[in-house]
Amino acid sequence: MLSNEAFFKISYGLYLISTEFEGHKNAYIANTAFQVTAKPERFAISCHKDNLSSELIMASKKFAFAILERDVDQKVISKFGYNSGKDANKFEDENFFISEMGNPILKEGIIAYFECELEQSVDVGTHILFIGLLKSGKEIDLSKQPLTYADYRDLRNGKAPKNAPTYVEPEKKEKTEDKALSKSTKYECLVCGYIYDPEKGDPETGIPPGTAFEDLPDDWMCPDCGAGKEDFEPIN
Ligand SMILES: Cc1cc2nc3c(=O)[nH]c(=O)nc-3n(C[C@H](O)[C@H](O)[C@H](O)COP(=O)(O)O)c2cc1C
Repeated sequence: MLSNEAFFKISYGLYLISTEFEGHKNAYIANTAFQVTAKPERFAISCHKDNLSSELIMASKKFAFAILERDVDQKVISKFGYNSGKDANKFEDENFFISEMGNPILKEGIIAYFECELEQSVDVGTHILFIGLLKSGKEIDLSKQPLTYADYRDLRNGKAPKNAPTYVEPEKKEKTEDKALSKSTKYECLVCGYIYDPEKGDPETGIPPGTAFEDLPDDWMCPDCGAGKEDFEPIN
């Protein structure tokens, strides 16, 4: 059978896919956005049925996808890729504008965006494959490099949540011997790949540098994806 390593060799980019329906703006992170025909220019995205975005795209019959730049703030990926618009308005506090077709587009961290009118939706089990015709779009900064899935995995230790088509069940590592753990042991979030470094702490949530992982409050959560302490494993 094919290993995860082989699946990880499939190249993708990372995109912010947004839509709007009756004033409700939303977006999610996706690696699945690709051009399927040139004449006319037609694109496809694969969106999980549980995502709020799939409901909104079905209703609004439109979507935009923005190419994320390589240096995009990790918080954009955390907020839009690990949180659902069902729980919070993800555009509150964001610097964005409304596109020609009425979709919300971030002002920073993107290279260009493409806007499509929904043409077909195909039920593919867990996901819906939305196929749309390109109607408009804009270049924001073509001098920037796009963020690839490989960059996200290799440079940012990034993972994908359950709703991503490329989700891989995290491997439970052998429990590290207690004696190997120390106050300076770093811990990795098995959900998103965030690494807690005691030397740095988590100042944004009031955790000062020098705080060992075991001294974090029980209700401390991963600053990137919101996972609990139980989803962390020590790394040696
Ligand atoms: C790196 C990465 C890639 C992802 N790719 C997809 C994807 O291609 N399709 C999808 O449905 N969800 C994907 N997701 C998950 C969604 O972004 C996530 O479920 C999001 O919370 C959905 O938001 P919504 O409910 O507001 O629509 C991905 C997440 C990450 C972090």
